[in-house]
Amino acid sequence: MKKAFIFDLDGVIVDTAKYHFLAWQKIAQELNINFTHEDNELLKGVSRVRSLDIILGLGNVQVSQADKDRMLIEKNEEYLSYLVDMDESEILPGVLKILKLLKEKNQGIALGSASKNARPILEKTGILSYFDVIVDGNDVTNAKPDPEVFLKAAQLLNIDPKNSIVFEDSVAGIQAANIAEMVSVGIGEETILHEADHIFKDFTQIETSFIEELIG
Ligand code: BG6
Ligand code: MG
Repeated sequence: MKKAFIFDLDGVIVDTAKYHFLAWQKIAQELNINFTHEDNELLKGVSRVRSLDIILGLGNVQVSQADKDRMLIEKNEEYLSYLVDMDESEILPGVLKILKLLKEKNQGIALGSASKNARPILEKTGILSYFDVIVDGNDVTNAKPDPEVFLKAAQLLNIDPKNSIVFEDSVAGIQAANIAEMVSVGIGEETILHEADHIFKDFTQIETSFIEELIG
């Protein structure tokens, strides 16, 4: 049976979550806001604009719209500076094996990411051609935990949400997948991603048999 396998990007396919964190930390420092790794969990899977609002909220700081716009540009420039030399070495361990397996088994493969930088990242890492469908931050109006991004991906693949599987490292993304009634697979810590149907520390922990069972 053909199912939809929908992958989040940052922190699932590539190890970019750390760069988002560093770039936000720089903004937080400028605002004298203490911003920890724990706080960062709130930002995973969340849009750029919403992320800034969360950071401002953490510090109970208010700024003008013009300052917000400037900070959003600054954050993205800082983030992009980490991606300049990006290549396939940034793909997280075990990901390529799963993508190859899904292609061999003729499954639908989609990207479902909040990032507006998704396409250049897939190009730089050389894996763009694995994806039948890409839905990213440029294509949706409602951010995760709203299921829009995943529902759109399944729709473009012409596969029922119930026959879709989502790989996610963020709480917001797992919630989005659950709301969409898709199978949610958390990639990361069980303590954080406990709402997921299945949880793996990383893709190296996912056996071929698990994927075969999902395909059915
Ligand atoms: C998500 C990340 O994938 O994309 C968030 O988990 C990030 O941390 C969001 O804020 C938006 O990304 P970008 O690249 O458009 O700023
Ligand atoms: Mg992510």
